[in-house]
Amino acid sequence: MKRVGIVGCGGIAQVHASVLKQLERTKLCAFADCEGRKAKELADMYGEEGAGAYESLEEMLTKESPDVVHICTPHYLHVPMAAECLKRGCSVFMEKPPAISMEQLALLERAVEESGLALGICLQNRYNRSTLKLDEILQKGSLGKILGARAFVTWNRGEAYYTESGWRGTWDKEGGGALINQAIHTLDIVLRWLGEPIKVKASMHNHHLKDIVQVEDTVEAFLEFEGNRRAVLFATTAYTADPDALIELACERGSVRLEGERVWLRYYDGVEEEYHLSGQESLGKSYWGTGHEACIADFYRCLEEKRRYGNDLSSVKNTFKVMTTIYKEALREWNR
Ligand SMILES: NC(=O)c1ccc[n+]([C@@H]2O[C@H](COP(=O)([O-])OP(=O)(O)OC[C@H]3O[C@@H](n4cnc5c(N)ncnc54)[C@H](O)[C@@H]3O)[C@@H](O)[C@H]2O)c1
Repeated sequence: MKRVGIVGCGGIAQVHASVLKQLERTKLCAFADCEGRKAKELADMYGEEGAGAYESLEEMLTKESPDVVHICTPHYLHVPMAAECLKRGCSVFMEKPPAISMEQLALLERAVEESGLALGICLQNRYNRSTLKLDEILQKGSLGKILGARAFVTWNRGEAYYTESGWRGTWDKEGGGALINQAIHTLDIVLRWLGEPIKVKASMHNHHLKDIVQVEDTVEAFLEFEGNRRAVLFATTAYTADPDALIELACERGSVRLEGERVWLRYYDGVEEEYHLSGQESLGKSYWGTGHEACIADFYRCLEEKRRYGNDLSSVKNTFKVMTTIYKEALREWNR
């Protein structure tokens, strides 16, 4: 049984708390938020009897010595908080992104290595049933080699999303916009199958909330891989609705498209297959996907069985590196 704490008791923490409350392997014993009231509210709603509520991570670590801390704070705090937990002998399950710069990522890598403890990252879309179905289809090999991919994320984040948070929409605290916060999941799934690009070209814009948001609300990227394979990604938070992200892989003998919980296969000889993978519910907003429960449960299964967790830091490094390269490329034009 693991004693677990959560730091950052805002939107996503509710999802972590509701999963942890149900798991047999965890006791949700402590909550911390700089707005103490939020920690207290979450403790009352999801905590074990007598669960502590604190105003800082440090106080929670000192008073409760949890085995694991879930980091659900703004992006810029992920690395310092994870490093503090690891230093104090506490494993970490952290929300994406793992960092906001390559320098921060290197600090995190060192902290993990020095501690010898587990660190898991919440890229829960890897656990969506549709993603697993896509993996199964591609592993089967009937589509032949993957030649390329296209991906679209077109979502709506309005003024209140930024003004109510105090950290979103800023370079120093969020580290970017549509890419680092929303499209990172989709980029991660594309790279899962295409690997490391040899060339990255990108541009970005802030079309919609220029006076409120410093960062990009729209980004497009062109990625080239060995063997003349190519991927294009378009992501925006300036749309008016939140349709499922779309990922399509073009292969030698057909294509496969993933959209939410649906997967379509189209062979070029005319044969088509379609899968509706319903049955898993999203615990939070529908666009967060359905994978949180499986993603968190697997982390604890791996901890208990002392196995390597699939969403560890090394598994997200390529996605993170490509994401920072996209920003670097796009910033050339942005600064003009
Ligand atoms: N995996 C997903 O699908 C998904 C979905 C939503 C959010 N997220 C991630 O979760 C994280 C939090 O996002 P959110 O939407 O819940 O944000 P939020 O603003 O709703 O919550 C963040 C909380 O952290 C608290 N906080 C800020 N500074 C703190 C400090 N120094 N010490 C303690 N608490 C502090 C805030 O008071 C707030 O309650 C982000 O990294 C975001 O990218 C992931």
